[in-house]
Amino acid sequence: MKFLRVLLLLFVVQTQAQQGGMWIPSLLEGMNEKEMKSLGMKMSAKDIYDVNHSSLKDAVPHFNGGCTSEVISPKGLILTNHHCGFSQIQSHSSVENDYLTNGFWAYKMEEELPNENLVVTFIVKIEDVTTQVLNGVASLTSEAEKQKKIQENITSLSNSLPKESWQENKIRTFFEGNQYMLFLTETFKDVRLVGAPPSAIGKFGSDTDNWVWPRHTGDFSLFRIYADKNNHPAAYSKDNVPYTPKHFLPISLDGVAEDDFTLVFGYPGKTNEYLPAVAIEQIVKELNPAKIEIRDRALKVADGFMRKDNAIKIQYASKYAGIANYWKKWIGETQGLKKSNAVAIKREAEKAFQQKVIKAGKQAEYGNLLSDFEKNYAEIAPYASARDYFMEVVQKNTELLSVGFKLYQLEQVYNTKGEQSFTDRKNNLATGLDEFYKDFNATVDRNVFEQLIELYATKSPKQFLPASLSNVNAKKLTADIYDKSKLVNYSGLKELLTGDTKTVLANLNNDKGYQLVKELADKYNKEVAPKYDEINLRITALQRTYMKAQLELNKDSRIFPDANSTLRVTYGKVKGYAPKDATLYTPVTYLDGVMEKYIPGDYEFDVPSKLIDLYNTKDYGPYGENGKMPVCFIGTNHTTGGNSGSPAIDAKGNLIGLNFDRVWEGTMSDIYYDPSICRNVMVDIRYVLFIMDKYAGAKNLINELKLVHPKKSKTLKKKRFRKK
Ligand code: ARG
Ligand code: ASP
Repeated sequence: MKFLRVLLLLFVVQTQAQQGGMWIPSLLEGMNEKEMKSLGMKMSAKDIYDVNHSSLKDAVPHFNGGCTSEVISPKGLILTNHHCGFSQIQSHSSVENDYLTNGFWAYKMEEELPNENLVVTFIVKIEDVTTQVLNGVASLTSEAEKQKKIQENITSLSNSLPKESWQENKIRTFFEGNQYMLFLTETFKDVRLVGAPPSAIGKFGSDTDNWVWPRHTGDFSLFRIYADKNNHPAAYSKDNVPYTPKHFLPISLDGVAEDDFTLVFGYPGKTNEYLPAVAIEQIVKELNPAKIEIRDRALKVADGFMRKDNAIKIQYASKYAGIANYWKKWIGETQGLKKSNAVAIKREAEKAFQQKVIKAGKQAEYGNLLSDFEKNYAEIAPYASARDYFMEVVQKNTELLSVGFKLYQLEQVYNTKGEQSFTDRKNNLATGLDEFYKDFNATVDRNVFEQLIELYATKSPKQFLPASLSNVNAKKLTADIYDKSKLVNYSGLKELLTGDTKTVLANLNNDKGYQLVKELADKYNKEVAPKYDEINLRITALQRTYMKAQLELNKDSRIFPDANSTLRVTYGKVKGYAPKDATLYTPVTYLDGVMEKYIPGDYEFDVPSKLIDLYNTKDYGPYGENGKMPVCFIGTNHTTGGNSGSPAIDAKGNLIGLNFDRVWEGTMSDIYYDPSICRNVMVDIRYVLFIMDKYAGAKNLINELKLVHPKKSKTLKKKRFRKK
């Protein structure tokens, strides 16, 4: 029986190694090309990443540091998600021109809308610089000294390595400090809004459908990159011209079928695939449940108000979505880690690791790693918990406290940097917080505060509670603060910040709200953060050694580095999945499903009447398939936050979809990727084209694209994207 279980676990570990992974594009040739071809890929690794010729990577810029986008026309048109362009779409919206509700389309280039602070970054080349970065590090003894030396090396290399004036050298660490890569990049600063569907399409299903399959969201928006006359990056100017890309993605009209090869190319943000079991256990049992409970309460309060009051709904829509997104993710992640037995599987793998260490005669170097992890995770537990409570309650979910915390930092600036810095920052805050207060409702926040401060007082580690929170009466404290603090509105805040430095500091320290924040933050800064940082530095060093050991002792298996916001390739197939007994999900959804979910007037599931008309007349043009309109599909590509907006590419290098989410049962993939149930969710590119063409009538944009039929043409023209 035991033997069978181990066999089964080994099998799981094996299949896991075969699929999943976020790979470095410049290393595909040796690492992945063979497997990719066996899965159906018809390109070579060089078609994906090449330094001397244009390749797919030249069409995949990082979108404002957090999402991914892809170039789809010779005139610099780029595609990303609706939720990635959301704040730009929102910032151009007003009551008269509500682009969030109605959508926005530029029918001429002159109508495209510039965006302050929006950039896209291309990768020119990637190079291994590990030796240079680690130069002179081995001889140092303390971890802090090592880190300092590494930082110095990185800074001097970034400055000295060759680049053009409009380019940048960025060095990033891989495998927790075991490898360093240089990215030569170009960042474009004039990026204009071109098109967005109404939220009822781009955000269809909203929070209810978020992280869930079957999905029916047309989560896309369009932008255009502008460059100077030399095709180089430049700040916004009306004289700038559309950027001519080194490569743009042709778009396939042939659609997808189950088992088709897919490749997702983008900038995954952060994963933790190599955590020891003890760390996962802590996430599952302690950290996630606490964060979920906090957000649960905050969201319930906000939802209650939003449903009753339209003005509050608008004020809190974006904040609510931001809080709900990871709240829901953590719930799914926790369930998934439990259901997939991630902890038990890791424990087995750790036993096998320990055996390997012994066999290799490396006990001195690696023999204590796992027990050291146990020790350090036990030690960090209360600090990690206190840190989460502080961040979630003070910095994130209670708005009054989060403003109070900004003021606390202001006082710190006075203490550490002096009066001039203080005054500069104070003035910035006084003007900057104007925007914040427009979307602030003191009654909503008061109710959130009462809920969350009660949790803080009763559930966060007692030893770090400030005096005023022990045995606190949450109701009384709430009244005391929200009736008396000046932080409840903008005029109060400005009043607090008026006068000379002495007066301002005195006023702040007299304010009930500020007093509480200061107590909480002082406790946190003095008793939690330093110790947390100290233990965490040890854990980071252990993790680096653990990673080194795994690379060394598993020479035959391919190991991918955790996501770190750098460009990666993940690949797999279009595939359904069976997450539980008698439940089988097929991999493609259709417009029929939108109509099945349709709830007239509902803020999540309303459908624009024009879309209903198109559905009724089946007016799908070349984008439909056998009389039906495909909307989304799923695949076995290993993605994470940051992959939103990533192109889904077919076997021959054509665009077939746009990544935007993952399925509920597989949200634990950042920690434990299980190929049987982890799926990424993509919008079918034909749905995007259908909305642009038939719904919005944006023929001007359709005419820029290169639409192809790769499945119908038998011969693949190898030279297709080898432009000189
Ligand atoms: N869950 C996806 C991601 O992590 C989509 C989020 C945007 N959609 C939403 N309904 N909030 O970003
Ligand atoms: N929705 C995520 C993003 O915005 C993607 C994911 O987490 O799967 O990047």
